[in-house]
Amino acid sequence: MLDYFEQEIFPRKTLELWENIYTKYCLEFDKAVILDWGCHWGYLIKHIQETFSPSLLIGNDINEYWSKLQKKHGWDYKKSNNIRFTLGELNDIEIPSHRKLDYILCSYTLQYMHVEQLCMNLKQAYSLLKPGGMLICCIQLYGSCNNNDNTQWFNLSYLHIITGSRKISKFLKNKGISYPYINYLTPSSYFAIFAQIGFEVLNYDLKMSLSKDNYEKDYYEYLQTEKSWTSDEELMCNEMFVQLVKPIEANELEIIAPIIRTTNWDIL
Ligand SMILES: C[S@@+](CC[C@H](N)C(=O)[O-])C[C@H]1O[C@@H](n2cnc3c(N)ncnc32)[C@H](O)[C@@H]1O
Repeated sequence: MLDYFEQEIFPRKTLELWENIYTKYCLEFDKAVILDWGCHWGYLIKHIQETFSPSLLIGNDINEYWSKLQKKHGWDYKKSNNIRFTLGELNDIEIPSHRKLDYILCSYTLQYMHVEQLCMNLKQAYSLLKPGGMLICCIQLYGSCNNNDNTQWFNLSYLHIITGSRKISKFLKNKGISYPYINYLTPSSYFAIFAQIGFEVLNYDLKMSLSKDNYEKDYYEYLQTEKSWTSDEELMCNEMFVQLVKPIEANELEIIAPIIRTTNWDIL
């Protein structure tokens, strides 16, 4: 069963992620230094390596799944001299200062972090980026119907909200299953954290899962009563997609100076 997920589902989901999400942004990956934060098996790294000519590709995760990729698919990332995988919190890893990042891609990973951990890691992400570098995040929100993959254990959507994660966690612990932590941040709390760190938002998209008119009406009413301090839009948000940029400060203009010098201003 696990093999089926590892060999069929994960690669297919990576392609869907690439085609449905990342291709929406005009990303110039040739010669770029790119980090996939929360890279899991490394399928996105593999896809980018096979599609573009990046200068350096780095995968980071707190679990070392990528070492199994060679056994399963025969893809030996060690044969590529521009691919590195790093194990641990982003905040703890070291990337040589002359290899500043053009892009950080982070899909379905930030929700697993506690607020302090998230802030620490995002500060590190900010400092690893070049001025003008981008962080692109896809985040599943607490209110989404199947957050934390509940349905692999229970055939009931929104159980984590109705029952509470602590109870589920205790129940599963007795069965020897560890239930991952998911933070409670809403879209506006994420935006506040991004702004505090210094990021500017270039694009965002909020995917709403619930509609007051559909069959989830009862659940929506429950949420409104239980979480009356949260706005409707926040409650109904399932996933958010954000393109952030590390702004170029005035004292860093020297970085783009060669471009300015070689630009023929007459044609503009
Ligand atoms: C749902 S998977 C997403 C994998 C992949 N990015 C994708 O979109 O298919 C979440 C990944 O985040 C990793 N993860 C969780 N907490 C993390 C952290 N603090 N730092 C880095 N990776 C983390 C997990 O080990 C897991 O591989």
